[in-house]
Amino acid sequence: MTDQPAKHDWRMGGITFPDVEDYIYTMLPPRDEVLAEMEADASKNKVPIVGPAVARVLFQLATISGAKKIFEMGSAIGYSTIWWARAVGDGGRVVYTDGDPKNADKARRYFERAAVSQRIQVRVGDAFEFLSEEKEQYDIVFNDVDKTDYPRAFRLALPRLKSGGLFIADNVLWSGKVSKPNPDATTKAILEFNKLIYDSKELFTTMLPIRDGVAVCVKR
Ligand SMILES: C[S@@+](CC[C@H](N)C(=O)[O-])C[C@H]1O[C@@H](n2cnc3c(N)ncnc32)[C@H](O)[C@@H]1O
Repeated sequence: MTDQPAKHDWRMGGITFPDVEDYIYTMLPPRDEVLAEMEADASKNKVPIVGPAVARVLFQLATISGAKKIFEMGSAIGYSTIWWARAVGDGGRVVYTDGDPKNADKARRYFERAAVSQRIQVRVGDAFEFLSEEKEQYDIVFNDVDKTDYPRAFRLALPRLKSGGLFIADNVLWSGKVSKPNPDATTKAILEFNKLIYDSKELFTTMLPIRDGVAVCVKR
């Protein structure tokens, strides 16, 4: 019998069976001191981070694809940003974006401690504005902004992705609400987004039912 993993708020649930979900978290190797502190911080302060199970998928996707330039829409305290920064390695670059300056201050301190500041550009304000100003194309655009803005993120991100690049989005199963009748406004936006990414001729999409659902879309 293995130890039960901590039930942090960011784990969410409602997609896989609770005992299967527990098992997945039990299997995860411990994180370093900074990431472990961030996970506790996020849980205590109700910051909705992707958590380690999803973060490992993000890390794998970045390393498999050899990504060097990543744009993150919605970074909060920088938990997923650190995983991206570690995946891109020396010479890689990750753009952190968040509308809340307090999040950004905290993130900067974590980046210093994780020794990845050099790889991260911190931008405080509207991720949509920052991405629309970009001239270059990215290897990965990660969408984790307010869920009602997901369809807008799809429209903006596609031209900013290189051919063969990845558009990745968290929370696409939204605690399973995507499969229930009478969706609320947030769920409707996610349903619209999911249809857009599957219908797009420019993308090849899958949804991974891990934690709250992660969409992985390859741009043709
Ligand atoms: C789910 S959290 C991000 C968590 C982070 N990706 C992680 O896993 O560690 C979403 C964050 O996006 C920010 N946000 C929402 N809409 C935004 C926008 N349009 N521009 C910039 N930040 C935004 C919020 O302030 C919030 O901190």
